[in-house]
Amino acid sequence: MVDLSVKIGEVELANPLMPASGTFSYEFADIIDLNRLGAMVAKTVSRDFRAGNPTPRMAETEAGIIQSPGLPSNGIQYFLDEMLPEYKRYTPPMVASISAETTDDFAEMARDISVPGVDVIEVNISCPTRDPRGGNFALQANHTRNVVSAIHAATNKPVWAKLSPNAGDIVGIALAAEEAGADALVIANTFLALKIRTDNFRPALGNKFGGLVSPALKPIIMRMVYQVAREVSIPIIGLGGVCKAEDVVEYMLAGASAVGVGYAAFRNPTALPAIIDDLERWCDERGIEHICDLTGAVRDDDMETDTYVAASSI
Ligand SMILES: Cc1cc2nc3c(=O)[nH]c(=O)nc-3n(C[C@H](O)[C@H](O)[C@H](O)COP(=O)(O)O)c2cc1C
Repeated sequence: MVDLSVKIGEVELANPLMPASGTFSYEFADIIDLNRLGAMVAKTVSRDFRAGNPTPRMAETEAGIIQSPGLPSNGIQYFLDEMLPEYKRYTPPMVASISAETTDDFAEMARDISVPGVDVIEVNISCPTRDPRGGNFALQANHTRNVVSAIHAATNKPVWAKLSPNAGDIVGIALAAEEAGADALVIANTFLALKIRTDNFRPALGNKFGGLVSPALKPIIMRMVYQVAREVSIPIIGLGGVCKAEDVVEYMLAGASAVGVGYAAFRNPTALPAIIDDLERWCDERGIEHICDLTGAVRDDDMETDTYVAASSI
C-alpha cells in the first residue's frame, strides 16, 4: 500500500490533504474523522474581535461563488483559550492562521500564537476582502519580504506564507517570501472579483468585491504552482479547486508537496476523507509506493517552458 506521508519542511503529514483556512473548524468532527487529515488548518484570526464585512457575504455565479466574509474573528485570545484546546483533541498537525494590518502587529501576533499546541503559523498576507480596496501585503515583493521577515524573527514555529493570485508576478513574491524566511508557501488565496445584480443595479456583496472560489481557477493556480516550484526550494501547498484525487496528483506533479481543500467540502462535507481514500487507491493501482515521489514529477524536460519563446515558435 502506498505511503501517503509527506513532509513540509520539518512538519510531517500523514497524507497531503488539509482543509483550507476559513472553510473548516474542529466542528467538522461531527461529520468526518479529523484524525484522517494531513493537517488541520484553522480560520484566520485577528488580534481583536472583528465583525467582518457587511452582508451579503456570498453570491453565486455561473463559475463558482464570490465571497467576502472580511475575516470575522473573535480575536487571538479567544482562539488560544477556546478553540485551540478543541483542535488539540486530534492528532494531525495544527496550523493556526493569522492576519494583521501592520507588519508590527503581524510579528506580535506570530509571537503570541507561538504556544505549544500550535505546530505551524500560516500567515494570511493575501486576503482580498480584508480591505474593501482589495489591498494586501502579498501584492508586492517588498511588502511580502518585510512582513515575512518580521514574522520569521518573532517565532520559532514554521511559517507558511499564503500568497495572492492577484499579484502580477507571483514568482517574484514567492522568492521574496522565501528569502525572508518562509518555511513553505501556500498558493493561493482567492481571486478578487465582482458581481453586479441586474435587478437593482447594485453589487451583490455588501463589501462590493469578493474572492472568487471555483474549480475553474485550478488551472490558473496550477500554472502558478508550477512556475514558483521551479524557482524556490521551499515546499509548496497547492490550493484552489481541488475536488478529486487526480487534482491532488496534478498539483503534486506541478511541484506541490501537499494541497488544501475548501470549496469541495462545501459541496460535500465528507470530501476530504473521500479524496484521501481515492488517492490511496489511485496510487495503489499504479504501483506508486511513496506519494512524495510525485512532487515535481511532471514530464516536460523536452518542452519549452518560456511562454514567450513557446508562443513565438508556433
Ligand atoms: C467562505 C470562505 C472563507 C475563507 N476564509 C479564509 C480565511 O479566513 N483565511 C484564508 O487564508 N483563506 C480563506 N479563504 C480562502 C481559502 O482558504 C482558499 O484559499 C480558497 O477557498 C481556494 O481554495 P478552494 O478552491 O479549495 O476553495 C476562505 C474561502 C472561503 C470560501
